Amino acid sequence: MNDTTITPATFSDIEFLWYIRNQRDAYEFPKHPNPAVKLEEHIDWIIPVLLHIAGKDLFVVRYGDVPVGQVRFDYEEDRKALISIAIVKEFRGKGIASIALEQAIQYIAKKGLVAILVAEIHKENAASIRLFEKLHFVYTSEDQTYFRYELALENNMMS
Ligand SMILES: CC(C)(COP(=O)(O)OP(=O)(O)OC[C@H]1O[C@@H](n2cnc3c(N)ncnc32)[C@H](O)[C@@H]1OP(=O)(O)O)[C@@H](O)C(=O)NCCC(=O)NCCS
Repeated sequence: MNDTTITPATFSDIEFLWYIRNQRDAYEFPKHPNPAVKLEEHIDWIIPVLLHIAGKDLFVVRYGDVPVGQVRFDYEEDRKALISIAIVKEFRGKGIASIALEQAIQYIAKKGLVAILVAEIHKENAASIRLFEKLHFVYTSEDQTYFRYELALENNMMS
């Protein structure tokens, strides 16, 4: 059985989220790649997120009791939100991201504020392309390096 859950990030998750933030491929593939950050920089970034004043929702993915990943929504204009996900390298390939992403989509759909979920995926990131396609995101456009995928929540029956 795959015992995967997502829970809103809290102050006790700060160090784990710093660890996963600095895993190399977690910062190489995102749209705005940014090399490893120091703990002080991470704290400056994460405290407003945890206080819900940064326009983001951040979740820790757990496998049983063990923190193994994160899911984040960055709220944008026009009822859109950019979604990103990362799983600790040693826990990949077990279906954890698929379940966590499905739970995250259900969460955001129930909240009712977002109409379109967006994922910006590096063209070489085969696992991520497969993951988002599996969860019914559809390709909408691309630039030189990234594919853009979207999921219209109002037409989605997952909620
Ligand atoms: C992308 C990522 C979150 C997937 O996590 P995961 O827990 O391994 O994903 P799952 O095990 O749920 O697999 C999802 C699908 O991708 C497939 N997949 C996994 N690794 C793959 C790979 N290297 N190449 C192709 N497909 C792959 C799986 O087979 C599965 O499809 P299936 O159910 O049809 O078999 C993980 O690789 C990761 O954290 N990468 C670094 C951060 C990142 O790139 N995030 C995405 C940017 S938004």
